[in-house]
Amino acid sequence: MCGSRALRLGVNVDHVATLRNARGGTFPDPLRAALLAIEAGADGITAHLREDRRHINDDDMARIKAVISKPLNFEMAATELMLDIALKTRPHAVCLVPEKRTERTTEGGLDVVGGHHYLKPFASELGRVGIRVSLFIEPTIEAIEAAVSIGAPVVELHTGAWCNALSLGEEIKAEQEFGRLKSGAAHAALCGLECHAGHGLDFDTARKIAGLPQIVELNIGHFLIGEAIFIGLAAAIAKMRAAIEAGRAQEMAKAL
Ligand code: PXP
Repeated sequence: MCGSRALRLGVNVDHVATLRNARGGTFPDPLRAALLAIEAGADGITAHLREDRRHINDDDMARIKAVISKPLNFEMAATELMLDIALKTRPHAVCLVPEKRTERTTEGGLDVVGGHHYLKPFASELGRVGIRVSLFIEPTIEAIEAAVSIGAPVVELHTGAWCNALSLGEEIKAEQEFGRLKSGAAHAALCGLECHAGHGLDFDTARKIAGLPQIVELNIGHFLIGEAIFIGLAAAIAKMRAAIEAGRAQEMAKAL
């Protein structure tokens, strides 16, 4: 898959559940958002079942898996309890992420170098039943090589540091971070890994990262759900699709 020019858009519906949970009850329903996202052009749905269940809960995950017609990407921490749930849910994919109770969102990638022995059995157990395993990592050569030795077929490169630097106007840092993503994506492809990216992306950053030809999937949540307040979820997804297709087409034109 690496090197392919197609770029999938996974829509993360966690923050629909965040809004629901702010009031309690059942509205707005992340399953309804997932169905609408697919209708609007999402290639898959991503949801993160956190240990503290701050947004998506077990019932959401089960309902989304049972109903949607596109692949479900189940984000989770590498714990025995989550492994059991994932094995029962049987999503298309699991993305292993680091999780800290005190963080607002997933800060930084997995410690795949130090956590190699711990993570390997999770990757093999999930892979054994046909679940595509990805590791959410920093875009470094060491992390990519550790992902290979863990046996995961996919890495998702953490774009948060790049997006944060851009939003703070830190141009030099942003350029360095983009350089890390560019060489990380190239190295992942060289190692035979399927390469995804996500975290903190908006229309502009998604368009730019779509220009990295090795990346075949972007997972985007917070910005799309926020933008939906202003222009509606279907319009936000359509605009995101157009942005990533424009970014990819520009890159292909340069390569000709
Ligand atoms: N990819 C992974 C692995 C994540 O943990 C998250 C956040 O849950 C995202 C993508 C989406 O990030 P954002 O909500 O900032 O678009």
